[in-house]
Amino acid sequence: MSAEPVVHVPKHVAVVMDGNGRWAQKRFLPRVAGHRQGVDAVRRLMRVAGERGVAHLTVFAFSSENWKRPEEEVSYLMELFFKALRDEIQKLHDNGIRFRAIGDLAALSPDIQQQIRAAEQLTANNRALTFNVAVNYGGRWDMTQAVERACAAGHPTNFPQYLAFADQPDPDLFIRTGGERRISNFLLWQLAYTELYFTDTLWPDFDEAEFERSLHWFASRERRFGQTGEQARAHQALPSKAIQ
Ligand code: FPP
Repeated sequence: MSAEPVVHVPKHVAVVMDGNGRWAQKRFLPRVAGHRQGVDAVRRLMRVAGERGVAHLTVFAFSSENWKRPEEEVSYLMELFFKALRDEIQKLHDNGIRFRAIGDLAALSPDIQQQIRAAEQLTANNRALTFNVAVNYGGRWDMTQAVERACAAGHPTNFPQYLAFADQPDPDLFIRTGGERRISNFLLWQLAYTELYFTDTLWPDFDEAEFERSLHWFASRERRFGQTGEQARAHQALPSKAIQ
């Protein structure tokens, strides 16, 4: 890792937090212990991302497919999310963080839905960092619901405006921990031009140094958005020039 500071920081970082189960199993602990430790890693990333100037941070907490896990693991994950939200929302608010949940929230328990609404309302005007949590989210669900709503409004071609966070910029940097190299039905539409960073590090071990490594990698990428390198550089869309 370079000791130089990264000058070009991604505005929006989206994360698939994989490897909690393996982290726990390596320590002869139940899988849920890995999820609990994973919440600490989320807290740490939120702090360091804010400090580094990231404006939007999105984490994949529970996918549309995660319902297929053993029932006790599903209940534990829901409980963990509910408790984290209840216990930490005031601290988020005090730090100027805006909380948003994305996903098919109607399938969650009424308690969690209520907690989410309260957290979103409390933090709605904060601007230091927008923290999006994807719960019961799937990229295919997102596109389907957007098309349905756009058709119902009579403007089918406007469907991107109905996607989960159409009011926020697309992610610049996608991070997936835990060794797999796939997107797993995360933000399928929004990741079209995102730089994809994969690391073998298990999510609970993803610390400040790991995040810094991903930022350096991002800063070295040439983002062309379909243009030639020369065109992109001329339009100053080239973060690699920004690293000092
Ligand atoms: C994937 O690891 C992780 C999850 C399915 C859940 C991630 C959720 C958290 C870290 C809690 C988030 C809470 C808040 C408040 C945002 P895995 O279980 O698939 O790990 P494995 O691949 O090693 O089995």
